[in-house]
Amino acid sequence: MTTQERSSTTSVMQRLRLDGKVAVVTGSSRGIGAAIALGFAEAGATVVVNGRSDASANAGAEAIRATGGAAFPIAADVTKSAEVERLLNEATGRFGRVDIMVNNAGISEFYKRAEAITEDDWDSVMSGNLKPVFLGCSAAGRRMKEQGGGIILNVTSIGGLTALPRLLAYCTAKAGIVQITRVLAVEWAQHGIRVNAIAPGWVETDMARGLLEHPVYGAQLMQRTPMNRAARPEEIAGAAVYLASAAASFVTGHILAIDGGWTAG
Ligand SMILES: NC(=O)c1ccc[n+]([C@@H]2O[C@H](COP(=O)([O-])OP(=O)(O)OC[C@H]3O[C@@H](n4cnc5c(N)ncnc54)[C@H](OP(=O)(O)O)[C@@H]3O)[C@@H](O)[C@H]2O)c1
Repeated sequence: MTTQERSSTTSVMQRLRLDGKVAVVTGSSRGIGAAIALGFAEAGATVVVNGRSDASANAGAEAIRATGGAAFPIAADVTKSAEVERLLNEATGRFGRVDIMVNNAGISEFYKRAEAITEDDWDSVMSGNLKPVFLGCSAAGRRMKEQGGGIILNVTSIGGLTALPRLLAYCTAKAGIVQITRVLAVEWAQHGIRVNAIAPGWVETDMARGLLEHPVYGAQLMQRTPMNRAARPEEIAGAAVYLASAAASFVTGHILAIDGGWTAG
């Protein structure tokens, strides 16, 4: 817990605000990351918007600025440690510190029977989903330790908590994110760094659209979801704001499922 979180005597609604905070959200050019970045900006934070290209990062930042929020684009491929270091260095150089790091960027997997998954498939899914969370936590954690605290939020999936057939590598990567979150929460609590994760169910984004719109599989997934629908990206943002805020000052090592009841069933 940071000194600021511990000493706060303000109201809950005030503690939910992120005024003056600097947040980096990986993979925020679109989808869930974009919704989280917008939510942070609405709560008063300055947000670094990230995607792999200048064009996508710029477009994401511009969309937030159009609403009156403070957003700054930095393109970086977060599967590479040098790029993650550059992302954090540029953010820190420009804004002085990074208070909140959201490791959201990820890629989907082709649906395959487990026995058909190749070594290349496996490496690609691990590199695209698990490695960026390790790199992002490591780079942000080192800086947060020096500055006396910070908040890390990782985006995993119901696939990290329950079995999704034909998504073996994806589920394994997302389960790895759950464990990164727990281990770092315990290891870094003494440094004032809170580490939590969000585990979305099915969300209407580019990543899931093909599956959700499939006449058979899409219908099966909605039938299996107690609320019988997918989430809109903005339905993930509220939990991210909460976990990143002083309202969650005693919450660490927690995995919050936002899944329309999927993991309850
Ligand atoms: N949609 C779902 O149903 C669902 C459910 C559970 C969990 N999730 C997880 O939520 C996260 C976001 O998913 P989404 O549905 O919003 O995906 P999406 O719509 O495909 O968006 C992915 C975002 O990540 C960025 N990105 C991908 N690889 C990157 C890299 N190497 N470096 C930097 N940015 C990268 C993309 O940016 P550019 O393309 O601009 O580079 C884009 O902004 C992922 O970790 C995903 O696994 C999604």
